[in-house]
Amino acid sequence: MAGYAAATYLRGIPFVQVPTTLLAQVDSSVGGKTGINHHKGKNLIGAFYQPKFVLIDLALLDSLSDREYISGFAEMLKYGVVLDGKFFDFMHANAEKLLHRDKDCLQFAVKTSCMLKASIVERDEREGGLRAVLNYGHTIGHAVETLTDYRQFLHGEAVSIGMAQAARISEAMGGASTACTERILSLLTKLHLPTDLPAFKADDYLAAILHDKKVKDDGLSFVFNKDIGNFYIDKVKDVSRLLKVCEIGD
Ligand SMILES: NC(=O)c1ccc[n+]([C@@H]2O[C@H](COP(=O)([O-])OP(=O)(O)OC[C@H]3O[C@@H](n4cnc5c(N)ncnc54)[C@H](O)[C@@H]3O)[C@@H](O)[C@H]2O)c1
Ligand SMILES: [Zn+2]
Repeated sequence: MAGYAAATYLRGIPFVQVPTTLLAQVDSSVGGKTGINHHKGKNLIGAFYQPKFVLIDLALLDSLSDREYISGFAEMLKYGVVLDGKFFDFMHANAEKLLHRDKDCLQFAVKTSCMLKASIVERDEREGGLRAVLNYGHTIGHAVETLTDYRQFLHGEAVSIGMAQAARISEAMGGASTACTERILSLLTKLHLPTDLPAFKADDYLAAILHDKKVKDDGLSFVFNKDIGNFYIDKVKDVSRLLKVCEIGD
């Protein structure tokens, strides 16, 4: 909200970001997407506006609750799954240390996440194409947030559920291996993140997904993982097929 205010006040004043949640340190403070929610939808009002710099101080996380802290792992894992298999392996090998807030591990993980996000945003600041990779897990994640009125799940938790489904969809419709899906699901669980979809009807999920601004006439842009560390984006015309893969019934 402060970023959006800085973007519009006097047609723009300089600002810096000092993120105080893990999720903000690894994702929202980098990349210049600022915005506020409207009752008609999330992030409907906003601007692309880069901060002068981002100051990340891990000590700020000391007072953060475990639930909020763990929620940040979801976006970190996202980078590993679609951009950097080695980073995924690092998280797998150091899950316990990350859960115990080991400073060296955390510093490496936060720094790597910021570098991975920056490498995408530098090439595609305004989501002309490539930046859409950062929406991995978010199509279904956003639907979960909408259907539960933003009350039941933190953003990272909803993204975790969305990534578990994206992994299943990538296997069923895109040819990723079963082993790859299992590795993704097992790391989410190891990091104490949720993977099960809340029970809503297929029609409700469909309406929530189709309302998303990323759905165009020629279909829904969906981010698939190829294996771990690689991705591709494809249009899905029949969105209900996605739901069948996730076993969302009527
Ligand atoms: N702009 C982007 O690129 C981008 C990227 C990812 C997520 N997001 C958005 O970010 C939002 C989630 O933000 P968030 O996870 O940073 O949570 P948040 O800012 O909503 O904060 C979560 C809670 O933690 C408290 N808190 C924050 N820092 C604390 C600290 N150091 N100690 C104790 N308590 C603290 C807050 O008061 C709040 O109650 C979602 O709406 C998500 O969609 C935006
Ligand atoms: Zn997100």
